[in-house]
Amino acid sequence: MSDMLPSLPFPMHPKMHEDPALAFSAKEDEEERRHIQKVQNAFKYYRPYAYLRLKKKWDYLHSLSADDQRLLSKYRTHLDTVGNGIDCNQAVIREILRDRVLYPTGDGSGSAGDTDNDNETDEPPAHVRHGDMDQAQSTLKLIARDWSAECAIEREQSYKPIIDSIEEYYKPSDYKLNEIKILVPGAGLGRLTYELACRGYACEGNEFSYFMLIASNFVLNLCDYENKHVLYPWVHQYVNNMRRADQVASVRFPDICPVRNPPKGNIEMAAGDFLEVYKTPDAYNCVATCFFIDCANNVIDFIRTIYKILVPGGIWVNLGPLLYHYSDVQGQNSIEPTYEDLVIIMESIGFDILSCRTGIRTKYAQNPQSMKQSEYQSLFWVCRKPPNNFEQQQQREQKEPPDLIVNRDHDTQIDVDVDADDLDHQLEDDEMQSESQSQAKQT
Ligand SMILES: C[S@@+](CC[C@H](N)C(=O)[O-])C[C@H]1O[C@@H](n2cnc3c(N)ncnc32)[C@H](O)[C@@H]1O
Repeated sequence: MSDMLPSLPFPMHPKMHEDPALAFSAKEDEEERRHIQKVQNAFKYYRPYAYLRLKKKWDYLHSLSADDQRLLSKYRTHLDTVGNGIDCNQAVIREILRDRVLYPTGDGSGSAGDTDNDNETDEPPAHVRHGDMDQAQSTLKLIARDWSAECAIEREQSYKPIIDSIEEYYKPSDYKLNEIKILVPGAGLGRLTYELACRGYACEGNEFSYFMLIASNFVLNLCDYENKHVLYPWVHQYVNNMRRADQVASVRFPDICPVRNPPKGNIEMAAGDFLEVYKTPDAYNCVATCFFIDCANNVIDFIRTIYKILVPGGIWVNLGPLLYHYSDVQGQNSIEPTYEDLVIIMESIGFDILSCRTGIRTKYAQNPQSMKQSEYQSLFWVCRKPPNNFEQQQQREQKEPPDLIVNRDHDTQIDVDVDADDLDHQLEDDEMQSESQSQAKQT
């Protein structure tokens, strides 16, 4: 596995285990290389795959009666425009894949890009599954989420509460921010990691998806000016469009160019499974998770790891729903603890819950023009690994912000100092209150 790539402004590297016994074996290296090749193949097959679906619609349209076809003449032209959007997306993907900085080298066979599959192909590449193609398409939407002006509101909903809380706890006036180490597991396209580094913190993003890593590397390291690229992120959404233009709306990215606007603080991205690579205790001052904790088979593993890698007195800031990605996925184990259960788990593991709220309205990679708008009533909390000693405890207590609430979105928000029992009661109270309110409404 190649080591960190120092020539890049923002290093992307495989996170190696500190313990050499746990470092990647040659076999794992080979598996990794094959995996990257598969992701690359899915990206290359993006256009033909998207065209398969489009062609089906064209064929059906052409099989309709002349009358119907006349009625649909504008729609037929629209389908051509959809095709153009797909072509443009493939051109961006070509750019994304052009620099192969992430791919392992040094095995004598050249980089993973130098293979028979190097060219785009109309034939489905070996081992590419529908799921991979879905991921290639949703990577485009996630580029829009993190790096387009059109999705600024969505980012504000998700990232601002996290950033505000961290700045409240590790106040720029009280700390040398470049000594405050923040980890963002499940960093996606890297915007939260970048924003925290821009505030001056030393920030490390962690991702295990090469779809995300390849795309975030492109934005962070290889885009040379603002709004250089045009993408059609919603072009695969054939339903719930009010106007034809909504499906083929374009976004430009990056709305801010990291190469031209390097953050004050250190930033790096580390590839690898969060649970596999973060084993060193007391390593980070803060762990920031956004739409991440429900990506575990067993969320307790995530919570334990977060607790372990935090320094005493360090904080975990979380925002997101409990979608539990592995629930109902064939061949995967999953448990889906509720918020109530999570509070018990967090406190039992040792966290002090400094603040938590429910009902934070957040969207995720939503087409702003779509007739269907899904929104999560997300959870938000700030937890602390208790400080080691009494002075530290007292010092921290003085520094503690009186109120970490940054955004009151919902009537049933819970601002805690609670333990799990209190929360049970609070939830019961809320239920009773809403029951009596609905009874009052009925009468
Ligand atoms: C729902 S996305 C959220 C991305 C980003 N935080 C955001 O808010 O846009 C969850 C991300 O976590 C990554 N992920 C899931 N499990 C992971 C793990 N065990 N280790 C590292 N990354 C993981 C996924 O690849 C995905 O990019």
